[in-house]
Amino acid sequence: MKIARFSRIGFILAAAGSAVGLGNIWKFPYIAGEYGGGAFVLVYLFTVLLIGFSIMIAEMLIGYMGRKDTVTSFETLAPVNKHLWKYAGFQGLAGLFIMIFYSVVIGWIFHYIVTSLFTLPATVKEAESIFTRMLHSDFLTQLFYHSLAFVCITYVLTKGIKGGIEKLNMVLMPLLMIILVGMFTYATTLGAFSRAVEFMFYPDWGKINSDAFVTAVGHAFFTLSLGMGAIMTYSASLEKNSNIVKSAFWVVFLDTTIAIIAGLMLFTFLYEYGSGPAKGPGLVFISLPAVFYEMGIIGNFFAVLFFIALAFAGLTSSVSLVEPMVQYFIDRFSWSRLKASIMMGLFFYLLGIVAILSNIDGFAKYLTWGGKNFFDWVDYITAAIMLPLGGLIMAVFVGFVIDKSKVESFMKPQLGFAFEAWYFSLRYITPVAMFVVMLSLMGLL
Ligand code: PFF
Repeated sequence: MKIARFSRIGFILAAAGSAVGLGNIWKFPYIAGEYGGGAFVLVYLFTVLLIGFSIMIAEMLIGYMGRKDTVTSFETLAPVNKHLWKYAGFQGLAGLFIMIFYSVVIGWIFHYIVTSLFTLPATVKEAESIFTRMLHSDFLTQLFYHSLAFVCITYVLTKGIKGGIEKLNMVLMPLLMIILVGMFTYATTLGAFSRAVEFMFYPDWGKINSDAFVTAVGHAFFTLSLGMGAIMTYSASLEKNSNIVKSAFWVVFLDTTIAIIAGLMLFTFLYEYGSGPAKGPGLVFISLPAVFYEMGIIGNFFAVLFFIALAFAGLTSSVSLVEPMVQYFIDRFSWSRLKASIMMGLFFYLLGIVAILSNIDGFAKYLTWGGKNFFDWVDYITAAIMLPLGGLIMAVFVGFVIDKSKVESFMKPQLGFAFEAWYFSLRYITPVAMFVVMLSLMGLL
C-alpha cells in the first residue's frame, strides 16, 4: 500500500496548525496578563528557544526515523529494552485526554460565533453572567456544540493525512493568519497599542517568581504541542530527505509570532475599550465580548471573525491531538482509518460529556474530588504530568538511548556546528528543566 505523505508546505502548516491553538489565543494572553506581562513574556520566549526548539527537533527526529505510530517508533528505535521503551509511545494518550476538555471549549467557541452575530453583552458583568449561565446550567447548548466539534474533528480524521489533515490545514491556517493579521493591523492604529507593547515587552522582574517561571516552561510545551506524540506522528509522514531543522524553525516561529500578535491585539483592545489585562481564563469569553460591544457595529463583525479564528486554531490542533492514537490502532491492530477515527472520537466525545456535566449545577458535586472537578482534573493531569513527562522521556531517548552516531548522521548535516549545543541541551538542560517543572506543577517543590 502506498503511504500518503505530507508535502513540505503541508507538513509545516499541519505542524504549525497543531501548535497554534487555543493555547496561543486564549491561554497565552491571560497567563501573560496574570504574571504581569514583559518579564513573563521574556522568560517564555527564552524557554521556547532554549528548550522548546530543541525538543521539537528531537520529537520530529523520532517520528522521521521511526516512520510509524509512536509506540512502534520507540520500539524500533530503542537499541535495547525494546519491550519497555515501547511504553514511552503511549504518550499519545495525553492527546486524547486533552481532547476531553479541548472539544468542549471548541464547542463554547462555536456557540460564541453564533451568538456574537446577533448580540454582545454591554458590560463585563453581563458577559460574566452569560458565560457562567452557559457553563453551570446550560447542558444542552454545550452538548450540542461539543457534538458538532466531535463530528467535524472525526470527519477530518477519517479522511487521513493527505485528504483530511493536510487539506484542513492548507485552508484554515492561511485564513487564520489573514484574520489575525487584519485585526492586529487595526489594533496598531489605536492609541492604546503602545501601552500594549509596553505591557508585553517591558520587563518588570519584580513580578517573576518560580511559579511564573514554571508556568512559562509548561506553557511553552503545551503551545508547541510537544511531549505527546502529535508532532512525532506527523513527522512519520515526512518525505525522505526532509529538513527537520528548517521545519522545526518554521513551526516555532509561526507559533510564537501568532501568540505575540494575539497578545498585542487583545491587550490593545482591552486597554482601549476595557479595563486592562489581568482577567484570567474568562478573558476571551467574558472581557472580550464586552470590549467588542464598546466598538459599536464593527464590534459584532470583529467578534464573529475573532471567534472563527479561534475555532480554526482549535480545530487544526484537535486533529493532531487525536491522530497519534488513530495511527496507533491502524498500525498495531490493523484497524481501518474509519474505525480508528470513530472509536477515538467516541472516547473523547463521551468523556467530554462527563466534563460538561462536571460544571453543571446538580451534577458537579458528584464529579468533583479534592477541590477539582473532572474538567479541571483532566487539564491538570495532562499539563502537569503527562506533557512534561513526555518531553523528559523524549529528551532522554534521543540524548542517551539512541546511539549518538546515529543521531549525528541525521542531524549533523542539518545542524552543522550547532549540533553539539543541541545535543547538550537535550541531555542536560531539558531533562532537568522538565523534571523541575513536573515536581513544581504537582506541588512537590
Ligand atoms: N498546541 C495546542 C495549543 O496551543 O492550543 C495544544 C496542543 C495540541 C497540545 C497538540 C499538545 C498537542 F499535541
